[in-house]
Amino acid sequence: MAESKTYYITTPIYYPSDKLHIGHSYTTVAADAMARFKRLTGYDVMFLTGTDEHGQKIERLAKEKGVSPKEYVDNIVAGIKRLWNIMDISNDDFIRTTDERHKKVVQKIFKKLYDQGDIFKGVYKGWYCTPCESFWTERQLKDGNCPDCERSVELVEEEAYFFKLSKYQDRLIEYIETHDEFIQPVSRRNEMLNNFLRPGLEDLCVSRTSFKWGIPVSFDDKHVIYVWIDALSNYLSALGYMTDDDEKYRRYWPANVHLVGKEIVRFHTIIWPIMLMALGEPLPKQVFGHGWLVLDGGKMSKSKGNVVDPVVLVERYGVDAVRYFLLREVPFGADGVFSNEALINRINSDLANDLGNLLSRTVAMIDKYFDGYIPAATERADIDNELEKLAVETPGRVEKLMDKLEYSNALAEIWKLIGRANKYIDETTPWILAKDSNKRSRLGTVLYNLAESLRFISVLISPFMTRTPGMIRQQLGIEDESLSTWDSLVEFGKLPAEIKVQRGEVIFPRLDVEKELKALEELQPTTGQTSQKEEAARKDETSHKTAEKQQRPGEEQGVEEITIDDFAKLDIRVARVVNAEPVKKADRLLKLTLEVGDQTRQVVSGIARYYTPEELIGKTVILLANLKPVKLRGELSQGMILAATDDNDNLALLTVDREIDSGSRIS
Ligand code: MSP
Repeated sequence: MAESKTYYITTPIYYPSDKLHIGHSYTTVAADAMARFKRLTGYDVMFLTGTDEHGQKIERLAKEKGVSPKEYVDNIVAGIKRLWNIMDISNDDFIRTTDERHKKVVQKIFKKLYDQGDIFKGVYKGWYCTPCESFWTERQLKDGNCPDCERSVELVEEEAYFFKLSKYQDRLIEYIETHDEFIQPVSRRNEMLNNFLRPGLEDLCVSRTSFKWGIPVSFDDKHVIYVWIDALSNYLSALGYMTDDDEKYRRYWPANVHLVGKEIVRFHTIIWPIMLMALGEPLPKQVFGHGWLVLDGGKMSKSKGNVVDPVVLVERYGVDAVRYFLLREVPFGADGVFSNEALINRINSDLANDLGNLLSRTVAMIDKYFDGYIPAATERADIDNELEKLAVETPGRVEKLMDKLEYSNALAEIWKLIGRANKYIDETTPWILAKDSNKRSRLGTVLYNLAESLRFISVLISPFMTRTPGMIRQQLGIEDESLSTWDSLVEFGKLPAEIKVQRGEVIFPRLDVEKELKALEELQPTTGQTSQKEEAARKDETSHKTAEKQQRPGEEQGVEEITIDDFAKLDIRVARVVNAEPVKKADRLLKLTLEVGDQTRQVVSGIARYYTPEELIGKTVILLANLKPVKLRGELSQGMILAATDDNDNLALLTVDREIDSGSRIS
């Protein structure tokens, strides 16, 4: 008997936050569409999602509410599960890091790594905020103070366990270099290699004694296991790894793909593979870092920084419209702008006009000209070939694109078929054929071809949209389930004639744009940024900006317009940092030696609070090269490296998204 093909896909496990927003739904809907697609195409699928529930922040929030941390998270997790229900998420399991099954596995993993010398006891140094009971790294501080309460912090030391990342660094570099598919898209792979791995890894602190809400180290219960070792292990604990019942682990590991947002690619492609290497486990086949869904300027809501609630949208437009929009609007690797306007336009053009009309026109004509019975195709014409050919070729094209996680392009292929079918109506003009009794069998063939195309479409869209395929089939009168399988798409013409169509409601009514925009403005709650802020704080040392806080372009800040000639005056170059060191008596400054083509430049930059010299060496940066040289604290500075800053005192250096020679000009 042939062995069944397995496919294991995961989302990140979510921090319990009151308000999961449309960005979270984006990852989960994408994973769901892939899981459904793989099931449809014959795979034995394991689709995992869950929640990441430990940490000091939760401990504190629970205390503020006067409940135990477990009670606090139970409540929120119930809400998250409800949301996935509303979004029609078909996960096979839901792992909580507070599940006993998870805790036991994490403890075993920790112990194994300790026993083999990969985890050792040392001293953790950090900035401690006593009122908040929180540790912060130098970079997380806000003007030298606690980023949460802005009070002063003190440098303290505590005993902690560390994981020897450095020991596995070279093996991991080699692995990444020889497995192109491991980190996707490729820009993220280069970023990991150049910015983190090649400059060298530091050992990672993996336990804390300053709070209790975590999984205790089994052999030293003063310590709780610190976030990433706990969280990442979920991908294995859900499979029963290291337990007596490890059938799923044997069946599904290694995972085919971990879907993660771009800001956590680093944890999934450095800490996680090193944990797995240390455990002697094969690495996941792929970690795919998708972009963020960001808000479009002020359009979405009155005040900047609001989150978009997917439930509001689903209640108003249905789950399929929201799922379709999320997967169609933005290429999966890139950041994409969410706006109400874009959503409504997609619904009107792709769903109401293209798909909805095709269905209602076809069913109405079968009703009118054939009393509702799908006619047989008895009189073919050349014009039919193109439609039939496209229908049978589309599944293969979609499959290829889905294998690359190109959801948007896969949908675009399906919409080409929809477009082709609509054009076929205009070309064949059934209403004219209907006037001539000699053309009756030709008319029947045309309508049959349209109904059969719609059957193809209903199967093709079924991974992406969960309700519409059933509605299409219901209107076409298709009950036989063998006509909704992927395999049934090998041949055009499987739809039997003489089944009775049932005219139903319009599947996607056309929306009045102005009215909807107004209604959405009123409906979207203005909840502010709390959940995103929590996430950011917990992501420990991740230099990520919250998606919703993206700066709007210059015009809104009153910046003067320039011409292309003004821009041409700037000599902006790609440069490589070959050395970086502090500047004496200037805690904010670093002195950088840059390679710019075959020249070397020294630049003094005020980035010491955001980057350590070690982090910078090897980095590719962007240099404004024709800035008049100046002396800063006695050091010559020949240019300026470019960086972005936000309102929260975050700073990120500009870089390029693929390898390019230093000295290359930016234009
Ligand atoms: N708990 C960690 C993950 C641990 S995985 C072992 C975490 N949780 S999170 O709730 O903050 O984020 C979960 C996922 O949601 C991340 O992949 C993140 O990128 C994604 N998103 C959060 N906001 C998003 C957008 N605005 N757009 C797209 N995805 C976003 O990180």
